[in-house]
Amino acid sequence: MAEARLGYPNLGLGVGLRTVHFPHILKHGPGVDWFEIISENFMDSGGRPRYTLDQIAERYPIVMHGVSLSIGSTDPLDFEYLKKLKQLAEDVSACWISDHLCWTGVAGRNTHDLLPIPLNESTFAHVRERVRVVQDYLQQPLLLENPSSYVTFADSTIPEWEFLGRLVEETQCGLLLDVNNIYVSSVNHDFDPYEYLEHVPFESVVQCHLAGHTNCSTHLIDTHDSEVIDRVWELYRVAHQRTGGIATLLEWDANIPPFEVVHAEVLKAKQYMGSHLPETKSSESDRSATQKSAVPHPLHYVAPEVQ
Ligand SMILES: [Fe+2]
Repeated sequence: MAEARLGYPNLGLGVGLRTVHFPHILKHGPGVDWFEIISENFMDSGGRPRYTLDQIAERYPIVMHGVSLSIGSTDPLDFEYLKKLKQLAEDVSACWISDHLCWTGVAGRNTHDLLPIPLNESTFAHVRERVRVVQDYLQQPLLLENPSSYVTFADSTIPEWEFLGRLVEETQCGLLLDVNNIYVSSVNHDFDPYEYLEHVPFESVVQCHLAGHTNCSTHLIDTHDSEVIDRVWELYRVAHQRTGGIATLLEWDANIPPFEVVHAEVLKAKQYMGSHLPETKSSESDRSATQKSAVPHPLHYVAPEVQ
């Protein structure tokens, strides 16, 4: 199973690391399995946030999740950005690096939004080449996340799941499957989320995201500001079953409650895992520094030649 996940381990149940929780984490060393950081929050910053991250990284596995790679943009890839990304990954021994199937800016401007791309042969060739270059530079498989979206393009000709599946096949990248994003997009674009799941290449899904969203009655917005709704949990049940066990992370980015609430929310995932329960810490107990060394680090990967 490990090889089917590109050599990346099932880390168990994690939560997104947010600064409001720093004091709690440092004081209590909660029994969460791992943390995901937003890469850009730490790439340029020294000082207290970075000092705190280093302390947390000594005790917990860290995964890096980016929002500025802009893999779909027509701007050249930013190698200064990639250099900092790679350095941070080395510094915190990141288990893997992910970003989104999207573009975030053009002509040197950053919109700070995860914008959808038209899905067709032309954009596929463009993204495929860029994924290969990024992986060659990072010397590890990149994970790409399915975005939530609010518009479709007249010249999209490839379903999202097929676009991602072909990317996996032709670049050996991995997928970060955001189950809430599938649900949000399925409502906004009126498709069956279970049909989407039918076509996901689960052997390449390394991580799942769960989150809450806002129901605006005519559409859903991926706000990460509340609990996961039951319909998303049901989708997660199917996704988890299809993977046979996978690293799962809860994102909570607005109206962030106390750490215990966020942690309790991700622990609900156990109810949907069937027989594939992870070995997780069940209580808010002290965490031994030696636990981290038990997590294999996927350094064996050699990126394919850039063509
Ligand atoms: Fe996500």
